[in-house]
Amino acid sequence: MSTSHHNKTKRILSGVKPTGKAHIGNYLGAMRNHVNMQQDHENFIFIADLHSLTTVKNKAELQGLIIDLALDYLALGLDPKKAVFFRQSDIPEHTELTWILNCLTPMPMLENAHAYKDAAAKGNKEINAGTFTYPVLMAVDILIYKPDIVPVGKDQKQHVEIARDLAGKFNRTFGEVFKLPEPYIPKEAAVVIGTDGQKMSKSYGNTIEIFASDKELKKQVMGIITDSTPIEAPKAPDTIYQLYSYFANEQEKADLLEKYQAGGMGYGDAKKQLLEKITETFKPYRQEREKLKNDLKYVMDVLKTGAEKARETASATKAEVWDKTGLSIS
Ligand code: AMP
Ligand code: TRP
Repeated sequence: MSTSHHNKTKRILSGVKPTGKAHIGNYLGAMRNHVNMQQDHENFIFIADLHSLTTVKNKAELQGLIIDLALDYLALGLDPKKAVFFRQSDIPEHTELTWILNCLTPMPMLENAHAYKDAAAKGNKEINAGTFTYPVLMAVDILIYKPDIVPVGKDQKQHVEIARDLAGKFNRTFGEVFKLPEPYIPKEAAVVIGTDGQKMSKSYGNTIEIFASDKELKKQVMGIITDSTPIEAPKAPDTIYQLYSYFANEQEKADLLEKYQAGGMGYGDAKKQLLEKITETFKPYRQEREKLKNDLKYVMDVLKTGAEKARETASATKAEVWDKTGLSIS
């Protein structure tokens, strides 16, 4: 265990894959919690760039996605003095330990993992081995830092469970090295819905991006799908209301509900109100991001320093694994 592990301070770890523009689902389900938890936890947050390679196959694109995600986190208030913020690919131990855990992972466990299962169910015959073993790399991402808690969206719960299973399996097979992590899924943000009422996701094209331009943001919010209840008629709480409720206080929520129930408020007006709320919520972060964009050297330095710190823990865990498995002979 790292010496920086304070008394009773719980360690949290989480990662986000750089695959596209950050949206409200990523923000509420993951990024905001990661940033908030830096206050009273020992916090490891990383950019899961190796995971992106299962789908991203273009150098300039990957580089852009990595920088974007680093900017997003720093703009949202991730404090590199409080959190260890780094890139997965800077830590070779992630890929090294993946092999070790691969050798303990039963194929059926991976056949049941949802990313692979979904792709297979769609009849995709070209699923790459990286997609198949994705949960093993993710298990290593987690286990190598021995965190107490892994804050993720609901869709990642299965992966954290796989990490727990593999930790137990390693410990029983070779001797105690890994800690069993707990997933932490904030209730209010378990599944954030998108502009069409389904789960918000890049792959459904129903996202509201938190750092989109004003024009783009307006387009996304105005594009929310509504039913055809006429302006005069009372309205039931809908997608607009749901999205509004993520950011509004109790009074504001009650006000919108009242207007819905009274009738006379059109969906266009409700969308405008939501747009204002989102704009107001993210304004300071967007300003901060603009500033950071002009200082990419700072951003790269933060990641480099983060990697140095992360590597202290990663290499200590690797040494334990090498010792227990018999790979180190001295
Ligand atoms: P992804 O964009 O799928 O790579 O997800 C990145 C992180 O955001 C993961 O921790 C997800 O669980 C979380 N996340 C993504 N979409 C949503 C959503 N619609 N609701 C809640 N959390 C989400
Ligand atoms: N698979 C996660 C996602 O798609 C990203 C991720 C990779 C992760 N490694 C992790 C999350 C370790 C938490 C812990 O969002």
